[in-house]
Amino acid sequence: MMSSFWSGWVIILTLACLAFVIYVLFTTWRQQRSEATTETTGHAYDGIEELDNPMPKWWLLLFVATFIFAAGYLALYPGMGNWKGLLGWTSTGELERHQEKHDRRYQPLFAQYANTPIEELVNNPKAVKMGKRIFLNNCALCHGSDAGGAFGFPDLTDNDWLYGGTADAITTTIMEGRNGQMPAWGAVIGEKGVRDVATFIRANAGLVDNADPAQLESGKKVYDTTCAVCHNADAKGNQLLGAPDLTDDTWLYGSSQAQVEYTIRNGRNGVMPAWKHILGSEKVHLVATYVYSLNEDNKAKKEEKN
Ligand code: HEC
Ligand code: HEC
Repeated sequence: MMSSFWSGWVIILTLACLAFVIYVLFTTWRQQRSEATTETTGHAYDGIEELDNPMPKWWLLLFVATFIFAAGYLALYPGMGNWKGLLGWTSTGELERHQEKHDRRYQPLFAQYANTPIEELVNNPKAVKMGKRIFLNNCALCHGSDAGGAFGFPDLTDNDWLYGGTADAITTTIMEGRNGQMPAWGAVIGEKGVRDVATFIRANAGLVDNADPAQLESGKKVYDTTCAVCHNADAKGNQLLGAPDLTDDTWLYGSSQAQVEYTIRNGRNGVMPAWKHILGSEKVHLVATYVYSLNEDNKAKKEEKN
């Protein structure tokens, strides 16, 4: 929205311009001779001279027509400052109409799969392909085009889940979004506490070779009193809170001593947006099927190996 000063300025400028065009049009109209003439304008170029004949009438009428069009357009559509036009047209309204039309056309395509459970739909290559397309358009930005994740964005193909890998858990994650909240502990447990507990969980995960037993014991104490509530006594995590398993080799925020210490000292706060209002449940159903399928492949591969 323009300020009323600029709005007024635009209106005055537009109207003044139109008035000037009308003025020029009518003064030349009145000065027109009605008869064809042999007088020249005095311009001569390479022996070619210009006759001083009036403009053809149809040409003038064309000017009048464009003027009427301009006046009509400015009355109906937003063209003068903040004036919204008699039709109430807006570009967002136009976009919404297009989107509605688009939805009406494609909704049945998505709707036909809505009632098939994901566990079954995953065997339908067409549905999985549609899910993949939705994924590439909406999710790849964060999770990667191969869904392999990145620092802070979980790998969705490894069958290792923050919030659970059942069809229902994946659907809830996508529909409602998630927000993992790892508090910052630096001020609570101090720098030594951070170092000790980081060493303890990394040793637990097989990442530290010759840890000092005293440090491990001190780290375990911090762990039991401060961390076990969320990450569980066995450090295998808690999917209700999205608290990761700290014993496996999947690390959302890196497994180096420095990264783990940073996580503990400063906290982490991963945000997965909610998609129900953006995609709607039918498209979420398809993209969830795609995510589910990535891990089905994995499971199959693991089974082959065993
Ligand atoms: C703006 C970045 C972003 C986008 C876009 C995004 N995600 Fe996420 N997603 C995240 C983050 C961050 C997490 C981890 C949340 C946490 O740490 O608690 C996550 C978590 C998830 C999880 C849970 C993984 C687990 O281990 O439990 C799934 C499933 C998921 N996303 C699927 C999707 C799908 C499908 C889309 C597209 C419709 C999508 N995401 C789009 C950032 C994003
Ligand atoms: C209130 C629950 C809660 C408590 C208490 C808690 N955490 Fe966490 N922690 C989480 C959540 C949730 C995440 C995931 C954050 C995210 O998804 O962005 C997390 C993430 C982590 C990570 C990152 C794991 C990865 O894969 O990169 C580490 C390391 C960690 N916590 C260690 C600890 C330690 C050590 C303590 C105790 C000093 C602790 N946490 C206490 C909830 C908690």
